[in-house]
Amino acid sequence: MKFFIDTAEIIEIKKYVEQGLCDGVTTNPTLIMKSGRNFEEVTKEILKIVPGPVSVEAISEDAKGMVKEAERFAGWGKNVVVKIPMTAEGLKAVRVLTKKGIKTNVTLVFSANQALLAAKAGATYVSPFIGRLDDQGEEGINLVAEILDIFENYGFKTEVIVASVRHARHVTDAALLGAHIATIPPNVMEKLYRHAKTDEGIDRFLSDWKKAKK
Ligand code: G3P
Repeated sequence: MKFFIDTAEIIEIKKYVEQGLCDGVTTNPTLIMKSGRNFEEVTKEILKIVPGPVSVEAISEDAKGMVKEAERFAGWGKNVVVKIPMTAEGLKAVRVLTKKGIKTNVTLVFSANQALLAAKAGATYVSPFIGRLDDQGEEGINLVAEILDIFENYGFKTEVIVASVRHARHVTDAALLGAHIATIPPNVMEKLYRHAKTDEGIDRFLSDWKKAKK
């Protein structure tokens, strides 16, 4: 499973690139706002640091506007993926962008039918938001299972990015289902490699080593 880092924080991105755990990055207007940086400036910096795909979100509401934004972003780097909202206008834009060879990530997907439509339009990626479904009492991960089954039934090449990942179990569940990608925020990344028993084991070995005859 590929790991994308769900952030616009340069320090975090660099950390996971160095660890070999960053196969790509996803951003959105909220994450750009949280970074406190200028959108174009920080996005171009991320594109240089990350060897893989970087999702950059279009904010226009009509297809024409989205295509215009996408063409501008595409000029910033070969690894640009344009994030397009799951709307009728969005799907129109995806169709045009796919023909132009610009990669797309259809975002804010909350149903299997939305994912099916996005795949039919030619989307490179779809992003089901599982944490936000959990928030309203649904099992978000079940949506990922449905989308993967549907894509397999018809041989769609569209890859599934499990998004709105809130905790480590989401990552395990995505991997068990064989999702192509999980986009993981830094606070969850941190929890993936830590375990209290690992820390305890290291402490014990170090303290015993101090007492060992050397
Ligand atoms: O990748 C989408 C993600 O950023 C949304 O996460 O936690 O705001 O639902 P969240």
